[in-house]
Amino acid sequence: MTLPSRAIQIAAFGGPEQLKLVETQVGEPGPGEIRIRHEAVGLNFIDVYQRTGLYPNALPLQLGMEGAGVIEAVGEGVTHLVVGDRAAYASNPPGSYCERRVMPAKCVVRLPDAISFEAGAAMMLKGLTVQYLLRQTLPQGGLKAGDHVLFHAAAGGVGLIACQWARALGLQLIGTAGSDEKCALARDHGAAHTINYQREDFVARVKEITQGVGVKVVYDSVGADTFMKSLDCLAPFGLLANFGSASGKPAPLDVGVLSKNSAYVTRPTLFTHIATRERTQAMADDLFAVVTSGAVTIRIDQRYPLADAARAHRDLEARATTGSSVLLPAG
Ligand SMILES: NC(=O)c1ccc[n+]([C@@H]2O[C@H](COP(=O)([O-])OP(=O)(O)OC[C@H]3O[C@@H](n4cnc5c(N)ncnc54)[C@H](OP(=O)(O)O)[C@@H]3O)[C@@H](O)[C@H]2O)c1
Repeated sequence: MTLPSRAIQIAAFGGPEQLKLVETQVGEPGPGEIRIRHEAVGLNFIDVYQRTGLYPNALPLQLGMEGAGVIEAVGEGVTHLVVGDRAAYASNPPGSYCERRVMPAKCVVRLPDAISFEAGAAMMLKGLTVQYLLRQTLPQGGLKAGDHVLFHAAAGGVGLIACQWARALGLQLIGTAGSDEKCALARDHGAAHTINYQREDFVARVKEITQGVGVKVVYDSVGADTFMKSLDCLAPFGLLANFGSASGKPAPLDVGVLSKNSAYVTRPTLFTHIATRERTQAMADDLFAVVTSGAVTIRIDQRYPLADAARAHRDLEARATTGSSVLLPAG
């Protein structure tokens, strides 16, 4: 049996105009797979990298790495999900920009009843990323309450979750953002300090805030525009985690520059962290706990009909969004 599914696909890499609404047919799940009907789909900056070809994939490509909905069918060997379950995921391969899809079950978890489909779709890729950053991407000796960390793009989807989770951990998060309004939003969500890096020298401000010491970790998803300056914000033995390239990939690194303060550099991705079902579930449990406790709220500032995915991409690339964005198949 096959079921119809409207989907957004690209036939060539390029701008948002490449995103086309197509009619597809979705079949039954095979062993280790499920079929999910989406109630909401998450929008992520990685979708832009995949659309442009910065992160290459085979064409034609159905974009999207995050979604939430109802399990419609379960393949052989899948034991942690049943038909009718509310569920959510962040996962490779791409393909969530659609009404329904078949996908590997190991990335999909049951969504607690207290969490809406929209929040589930907005929080899995972004929230699991914050989980691995703040809880697993740590300097020597870890992080403790009162420690300073620098988090770029603090008013974005990942950023606002990070501000709140850092506050819950007692960290002094210094958030950068591209406007005074975005800085205020980051402070409202738990950033201890903010820097408008469009008009302020963030290295100088970090030194001022930390009284010349620097921060233990910089979480840098902006990439090309910030990477080298981020290194200058580190305390001795500090860690620079470059986890994104919103302004482009950083230039190749001469490791000699790390000798200045014995810095560590890493380039982590979520997909290494959620490579097994056990790790995915453990990280999701941690994320669901901070959300259901109220410590972290998933703020959705933009909602688009699935068919308007191109508009959503334009807004994201133009830095016109704050918090998370979702695409709604029924919208
Ligand atoms: N490695 C991983 O595992 C992983 C997982 C999830 C996300 N990420 C990365 O985390 C970052 C945040 O993801 P998100 O989906 O939540 O996006 P987002 O933060 O909501 O949007 C990206 C933000 O980056 C900032 N930015 C700085 N320079 C930019 C430029 N030249 N063009 C566009 N934006 C620019 C903008 O904020 P300002 O205007 O405030 O500067 C923009 O709003 C992305 O870089 C993404 O690739 C990485």
